[in-house]
Amino acid sequence: MKNQIRVFAPASVANVACGFDILGFAVEYPGDEVEIKLKDEPGVVISTIDGDNGKLPKAPDKNSVTVPILSFLKHYRIDQGMEIKLFKKTPAGSGLGSSAASSVAGVFAANILLGEPMKQEHLLPFALDGEKAACGIAHADNVAPALLGGFVLIRSYHPLDVVKIPTPDQLYCTIFHPDLEVRTSDARKILKKNIPLKDAIVQWGNIAGLITGLMKSDYELISRSMEDVIVEPIRSILIPGFDKVKKAVMETGALGCNISGSGPSIFSLSRSDEIAKEIGEVMAEQFKLDDVSGEFYYSKINNQGPKVITQDEDEIL
Ligand code: HSE
Repeated sequence: MKNQIRVFAPASVANVACGFDILGFAVEYPGDEVEIKLKDEPGVVISTIDGDNGKLPKAPDKNSVTVPILSFLKHYRIDQGMEIKLFKKTPAGSGLGSSAASSVAGVFAANILLGEPMKQEHLLPFALDGEKAACGIAHADNVAPALLGGFVLIRSYHPLDVVKIPTPDQLYCTIFHPDLEVRTSDARKILKKNIPLKDAIVQWGNIAGLITGLMKSDYELISRSMEDVIVEPIRSILIPGFDKVKKAVMETGALGCNISGSGPSIFSLSRSDEIAKEIGEVMAEQFKLDDVSGEFYYSKINNQGPKVITQDEDEIL
């Protein structure tokens, strides 16, 4: 039996323009890393959290890395002790699925250490418990792509029904993370509870078009469908210069440019590594005009989800 493992789970872009709470995809970079060591004594403890500036709780029933592990152990009625080290590389409150990356990494690693009693896709409800602990609501559009990789559609929450959508070959993502923090719970409170039917019709057309575009590798259709008439007009107010940045990004050859999850990060899809990089530079320049600093990442879509970095095959003594 393995007694120690270090894993990576990716950041993710939720909503993907028109798919509020029902669509997300995973990126290659950034992501969180988690190390778990089995202990002889019972109890799950977090010994280290690196990269969070002291902001995240160390109590195992409060942190999104350990809540899924506790649910998983409870499900199997196992009292296995574990020491957890969390290396945060996705900034919290960024709209990059930071809590989802930790949740997925934690339960993915624990499942492997315990001999993989569960298939990876069945870990989703446990990872969702971590998301709920972090932001008060168990939205799955970060956790599902972080766990399964690629684009994932949440067809239904009750019952949970997730569908992995094929990723076209030439699809690259650029993310700009401004040095601002927006709490998901706050970004949800400002949304309207009712939407006019005419807006719903536009949104339905776009989400159906986006899924069809992904399935057919029809980049023009993907581009036409990356429009959000319901959530983005409200949330973009929280992002200084959003409309100007978006215009400049579209002029650089992007397929689309929208808010990543609940923001303040924004993302763009494009068809090449070069354009993805150029878009990142344009995003940085444009935000700078509004005195907003930040960093950008670009990569292909991550089709794999979490992965093992190192593991130790030693028998437990
Ligand atoms: N779908 C969620 C929201 C994602 O937009 O509130 C949060 O990252």
